[in-house]
Amino acid sequence: MEHSEKWEAEFVKRFKKHYDELKWLYCEVYNNDMKAFSWLCNSLYGYYKSRSSALKKLDREKENNPDWYKTNDIVGMMLYVDAFADNLKGLKNKISYIKECGVNYLHLMPLLKTPKGKSDGGYAVADFRRVQPELGTMTDLEKLTSECHKNGISCCLDFVMNHTSEDHKWAKAARNGDAEAQKRFFFFDDWEYPNRFEQTVPQVFPTTAPGNFTYLEDCKKIVMTTFYPYQWDLNYGNCVVFNDMVGNMLYIANKGIDVIRLDAVPYIWKELGTSCRNLPKVHSLVRMMRIITEIVCPSVLLLGEVVMEPSKVVPYFGTVEKPECHMLYNVTTMASTWHTVATKDVRLLKRQMDKLADLPKNYVFLNYLRCHDDIGWGLDYEWLSQFGISEIPHKKYLNDYFTGKSSGSNARGELYNDDPRLGDARLCGTTASLCGIEKALAEKDEDKLEKAVDCDIMLHAYMLTQSGIPVLYSGDEIGQLNDYSYHDNPDKSADSRYLHRGKFNWESTDRCSDTDTVQGRIFKSITRLEAIRAKNEVFGTPAEFCTVYTGSDSVLGVCREYGNQKLLAYFNFSEKEQTVFLDGFKSGKDLFSNEEISGIMAQLKPFGFLWLLLEE
Ligand code: GLC
Repeated sequence: MEHSEKWEAEFVKRFKKHYDELKWLYCEVYNNDMKAFSWLCNSLYGYYKSRSSALKKLDREKENNPDWYKTNDIVGMMLYVDAFADNLKGLKNKISYIKECGVNYLHLMPLLKTPKGKSDGGYAVADFRRVQPELGTMTDLEKLTSECHKNGISCCLDFVMNHTSEDHKWAKAARNGDAEAQKRFFFFDDWEYPNRFEQTVPQVFPTTAPGNFTYLEDCKKIVMTTFYPYQWDLNYGNCVVFNDMVGNMLYIANKGIDVIRLDAVPYIWKELGTSCRNLPKVHSLVRMMRIITEIVCPSVLLLGEVVMEPSKVVPYFGTVEKPECHMLYNVTTMASTWHTVATKDVRLLKRQMDKLADLPKNYVFLNYLRCHDDIGWGLDYEWLSQFGISEIPHKKYLNDYFTGKSSGSNARGELYNDDPRLGDARLCGTTASLCGIEKALAEKDEDKLEKAVDCDIMLHAYMLTQSGIPVLYSGDEIGQLNDYSYHDNPDKSADSRYLHRGKFNWESTDRCSDTDTVQGRIFKSITRLEAIRAKNEVFGTPAEFCTVYTGSDSVLGVCREYGNQKLLAYFNFSEKEQTVFLDGFKSGKDLFSNEEISGIMAQLKPFGFLWLLLEE
């Protein structure tokens, strides 16, 4: 095995452990290019060497406690630095608020250099080693992560690896005719291959960015652009791209990023005649990235962004012997939850929970209600078909409900990428607005408001009941409403995801401590739920869970068990009071209200919930 005599023992030990497999994978993907492989290995050592001693200490601690992220006391929050605190320095001054929210895992939305107006919310990166100037500098980022670490907060950042901005130096060189640079992307002289690809590759943004290729007028070439035309797909078939992008990933890890979100990871390998999604080589690449982090920076976790149906998501965990991502989004549960809000029928959600319960306990999901993206209606339609529900009409039903079109709906959302030919529009809006808070406030309807707030809190309680890491979407902790101002901004107006990417409303936080206000009720409830969760190991990822019979199709029942703790949790998704059957229950305490409860029946108020800890 070729490694340098000069390498430090700690690195050599980790390197040796993974060497054979890494070499095997690399040779398989890159046709035995040993020169490129040895370049990669040397560069890994370089990143190890330049890692700070504080981060190396963290590496050792977490190497000794590899399950640190599976505990019941982690709560995440995702936020846009500018919307929340203008810039990185501002954010550093807001750490106390983040802690008040009970948050110890902070996902910073993309903050690297990106062109104005052609940024896709920061997902078109022009320089992987520079912070967007308005947000600050790399030093500010480093100071922020170090301050977060001192406060027990881990930081997550996107690694937008599928594409670069057309403003990235590689793209600029490619546009200027540099043949080496063109090989880093998918360049074509004519439409023959692009047209062949189009026959099998679906579209991500059918209305805002139709097609998967863009014609470059100035150099008369065609380039692959799966997302927006200004986001050029990188060609990972070229080992130089892989080597350089690994360097970019390790560079941000060395700035103190603890969790790397592999953005759009299913898309990173392309082959003619396929959907260019989830191809086997994607897994070889992700596995190599996992090995590389274990060698260079073992405290760093990989979070895969795979917003697809469960059968596509789960393979990204890899196997026990050959793990890939540490964490994945629980996207189907999220979508099924909103389906349940609209239909008030928990049967699909129950089935989804049953499926999750069957998965190995070492799979860690990131649970969430809302994030920066739209809600795509990826539901189990095959199962729903037994009730006469079919995909297209059901998507319309859900969209009508959440845009407030259907009678009885108090939700306020907007459609996203509505392609009338396909009828598969997705949906945008904040949790509070989708739960009806915005409409109730506008109508000054106290009864509606009470129910909407209860729905919002119940949904958070449900999210916090799930195994894995719960992640709040910044603003949801104070019931922030939709922001319609993006309609007047020409750079944003075509992309309705900006509806739920508004400025954080700091004035509202003054009301956080007053439970007579909407903000106070939501804030106090969420932080109370988090504190209870952190105290009881029954909420941890290793706990067993299953769904239980409740006697009502509007009430979801979940049982969790760990050690000698047993929790029965009930969630009423309807606006009517429900009587629930407490299967296997004699007496216990509702952890949220502190009430002692006994008997086998209980009343749940509209959108009420119970966290019953059983007395053994
Ligand atoms: C991911 C991001 C999304 C972005 C896309 C392209 O899906 O979550 O916001 O538009 O990648 O980078």
